[in-house]
Amino acid sequence: MKKLTAVILAAGEAKRMRSSRPKVLHPLCGRPLIAYPVAVCRALGARVVVVVGRAAGEVRAAVGEAGDVTFVEQKERLGTGHAVLQTRGACGGDEGILLVIPADQPLLAEPTLRRLVEHHRATGAAATLLTAVLDDPTGYGRVVREGERPVAIVEHRDATEAQRAIREIGTSVYCFEARRFWPALAQVTPQNDQGEYYLTDVIGILQRAGQRIEAVVAPDAAECLGINDRKQLAQVSAVVRQRILDRLMAEGVTVLDPASTFVDDTVRIGADTVIYPGVILEGQTVIGSECVVGPGCHVVSSRLGDGVALKPYCVLTEARVEDGAQLGPFCHLRPLSHVGPAAKIGNFVELKKSRIGRGAKVPHLSYVGDATVGEGANLGAGTITCNYDGVNKHETVIGDQAFIGTNASLVAPVTIGEGAYVAAGSVITKNVPPGALAVARGRQEIREGWVARRQAARRRETQPPEGQD
Ligand code: UD1
Ligand code: CA
Repeated sequence: MKKLTAVILAAGEAKRMRSSRPKVLHPLCGRPLIAYPVAVCRALGARVVVVVGRAAGEVRAAVGEAGDVTFVEQKERLGTGHAVLQTRGACGGDEGILLVIPADQPLLAEPTLRRLVEHHRATGAAATLLTAVLDDPTGYGRVVREGERPVAIVEHRDATEAQRAIREIGTSVYCFEARRFWPALAQVTPQNDQGEYYLTDVIGILQRAGQRIEAVVAPDAAECLGINDRKQLAQVSAVVRQRILDRLMAEGVTVLDPASTFVDDTVRIGADTVIYPGVILEGQTVIGSECVVGPGCHVVSSRLGDGVALKPYCVLTEARVEDGAQLGPFCHLRPLSHVGPAAKIGNFVELKKSRIGRGAKVPHLSYVGDATVGEGANLGAGTITCNYDGVNKHETVIGDQAFIGTNASLVAPVTIGEGAYVAAGSVITKNVPPGALAVARGRQEIREGWVARRQAARRRETQPPEGQD
């Protein structure tokens, strides 16, 4: 079988995005745009060549250093034909089949491209076009047919009134016989309204040379939706987002309100997990099975075990939560927080770079940073680890089963021993041995009758001296 080389066109100026970064680096449901065509071409088993323009290095980095993708720089943007011409060396000779696809149509699906390639192989055509039939074809290249056969693609701006009435458009996706293609491409000239080398012109050139042109009509024109501006980015995002949610639901995840749920393509979720409305799950997040993700939770690149409950409005970034733990409502787990199995993190609690042991509880209003909290320990409301001295960060260690009373400040570095108690309101500056009680606060004094004495004193002060009226 002839080898397949995919050429991805990603060097366009993308003026309509009005962006300082290349279009193909804009994220779409957690992946940069360029990742979509690369993934689909890899799935087809094609060798991949990407034509890049500005910020070539960044695009290369976004695709990753897997090593199976070749990058070719198009130094001047002289049109789609010129872009493909730059890849001639990288495509390796005149044998095989070229699949050309634009980088900005991320909805192109593998089965459609597979059909295109199979049709091309089966018919032995010199070129096979992927076309689509649109209600409003304004702006696209029109497919001109003679009888059944496609014979040319005419750009909208160069088309006659009669050609503009054609609703079948070229999608910018093609299969070419390399042997026929390169000589035809060499004949393309920039004689058109934009003064560019149009790849579309290759079709007319091959036709005039007596070559056979075939076309496959995309089953769903929506697959060919391109992203040229931010509005189209949002429209295509909505389609990708829905596909991700459909996949998750098929895998056994309950999504109560798909319309308000945003899950990146990179996220994995186990069966029987329930996602409430307004949830955003991003990055390399992994959520186990039988979890509940309450309304308004925002989870970024975090790992949750099975049976974890996130009550409403939890924010997690690069955190780990073990099986059966309960979080929130309103808690904030910053990077390197690790919540042990069946532990409980309650409302208005912030964790940073801390390990919370199995079954430990931090139920209310706490800041725990740079700390290790032992199994079964209990941190009362308002417990604060004073981890920062204005210059350096220091660690707090709280032993297993320790009990920290309400509103205690633990001035790090400090260790609270296993099973020790800290009295409420203490400011702890020295280590507490295991099993001890530490009290570090002003002692309470009682002054019996103090109120009555004070009232009497005030009355004397306000009474006018005798002899005056
Ligand atoms: C192109 C087709 C048009 C088709 C439409 C489908 C041509 C001349 N026109 O028009 O027939 O209906 O796609 O969406 O091919 N690119 C480069 N280097 C360049 C110019 C473009 O790499 O010098 C890349 C772009 O990044 C993009 C792709 O080629 O991924 C298509 O270019 P674009 O300018 O978007 O072409 P359209 O005007 O959409
Ligand atoms: Ca386009």
